[in-house]
Amino acid sequence: MSDGRVADRAANDTEASGRVEADSVVVLDFGSQYSQLIARRVRELNVYSELLPFDTPWSEIAVREPKAVILSGGPASVYEAGSPHPDPALWSGGIPILGICYGLHLMAQALGGEVVSFERKEFGPAVVTVTGGDRLFAGLEAEQSVWMSHGDSIERLPDGFRPTARTDSTPVAALADPARSMYGIQFHPEVVHTRHGREILRNFVVDIAGAHQNWTAANFIASNVEAIRRRVDEHSRATGTDGKVLCALSGGVDSAVAATLVHRAVGERLTCVHVDHGMMRKNETELLAKAFEQLGVRVIVVNARERFLRKLEGVIDPEQKRRIIGAEFIRVFEEEAAKIGEIAFLTQGTLYPDVIESANSNDEKAAAKIKTHHNVGGLPADMTFQLIEPLRYLFKDEVRAVGTQLGLPDSMVQRQPFPGPGLAIRIIGEVTSDRLDTLREADWIVIDEIKAAGLYREVWQSFAILTPLRSVGVMGDGRTYANVVAIRAVTSEDAMTADWAKLPYEVLGKISSRIVNEVPGVNRVVYDISSKPPATIEWE
Ligand code: XMP
Repeated sequence: MSDGRVADRAANDTEASGRVEADSVVVLDFGSQYSQLIARRVRELNVYSELLPFDTPWSEIAVREPKAVILSGGPASVYEAGSPHPDPALWSGGIPILGICYGLHLMAQALGGEVVSFERKEFGPAVVTVTGGDRLFAGLEAEQSVWMSHGDSIERLPDGFRPTARTDSTPVAALADPARSMYGIQFHPEVVHTRHGREILRNFVVDIAGAHQNWTAANFIASNVEAIRRRVDEHSRATGTDGKVLCALSGGVDSAVAATLVHRAVGERLTCVHVDHGMMRKNETELLAKAFEQLGVRVIVVNARERFLRKLEGVIDPEQKRRIIGAEFIRVFEEEAAKIGEIAFLTQGTLYPDVIESANSNDEKAAAKIKTHHNVGGLPADMTFQLIEPLRYLFKDEVRAVGTQLGLPDSMVQRQPFPGPGLAIRIIGEVTSDRLDTLREADWIVIDEIKAAGLYREVWQSFAILTPLRSVGVMGDGRTYANVVAIRAVTSEDAMTADWAKLPYEVLGKISSRIVNEVPGVNRVVYDISSKPPATIEWE
């Protein structure tokens, strides 16, 4: 995404925007792979939640006035030296706490109980039996299937706590001290395999902690529009300028929603730039320009197709393609920005998962980089604007809800993700104008048929790849020697892992026959049945 300098500025400059005045829940992250998911599940209850590092000082938590704190799971054992612990002031803060797995162990240990290594480690599905009349399990059946993943267990309960659920192998699968509003569960309510996970989280967040379910797209828009307007106005007054705001529009959901939101706040002062690098899908640029025209947003569309193609001539290495497109994008964008005059703010569609990821990133992670990502966030580091990142506290599904609420068309809001370098990384081998045309037509057919089958929103991404292969075929009475197109469709939660989509044979058949009949130069279609890992979603 953006480079370090831009990210730092973002952290300083966007405190005023992005958050919303709503009841909130803090989730402390002890390193579980599901930590983000906890925050998402709480948001699904229309309660705002933020994921913070485990060692966040109590003062920083308290200032947020959360209705509750949830402690995530984690890979460590609480009795090990160097294991992560929260600020001890948390335990006497008077705020309801729910400990999940490792979080439960932390709570038990900190309040005087004992946690030990467990001989009968539990990983995977289990059945818990609810034993106490605990509010956490109110309205739920006594026996329920849950997802376990632990190697430690509670040997001795802390004073004031009682066990409220058990499994065949774990006598304390949940505990509670209702007087202090402290609850702990050994299993993971955030994963779908826990049958009543959502209800348990709801019982805690809404009924026990008393959080109002007031985190809605409409509230978010209202408070953000106001905050952005105030910020830009203040800047204009202080500098005596007209406070111009710039936004790079990629065609994707995030930048489109960010731009529309900012437009609500500052109107004419916003200019959007869309760099058409020629690697877009069929009609994409035209649709984007039209949708924004209808919304009254000024968009400058820069036709840089020739320029990008020239730079890509003869290039077949995927990383080199990515670097060239990223660098050229910045050059074109800078040239356009210079024409607009002095710019005070730049709008970016940074999302919460990017923020969390960059907060957690370290050199080790960077060293394992698989692909150099380019997107419109990869903007010049030396421009002197401040950042407006109104989506920096939102997950993707929330961005979509905000987009819909803002009146963006479904065709834009429900768009599947599309990589910054576009079709260039779906053409294996050299990118030429002809090959782009071939892929664009094939890709269009894939999307068309997936939509017709009602599967567009069910799959994470679905698209075509132009392989460098040619194969022999027969069309009519003649021999052909033509291109092989591959189809890729995956299901995924977050693109970190993905499975190939089990598309119905009829849909695959229709896509195949339409491509070979309608796209000149293609005589064979194959379906990619690799999951991620070990493959990636894109081919390059
Ligand atoms: P991979 O291929 O790494 O892709 O499994 C994971 C997700 O990221 C998208 N992707 C990109 N998105 N700029 C982007 O904005 C890029 O350079 C880029 N490369 C891959 C990909 O489409 C998938 O959703």
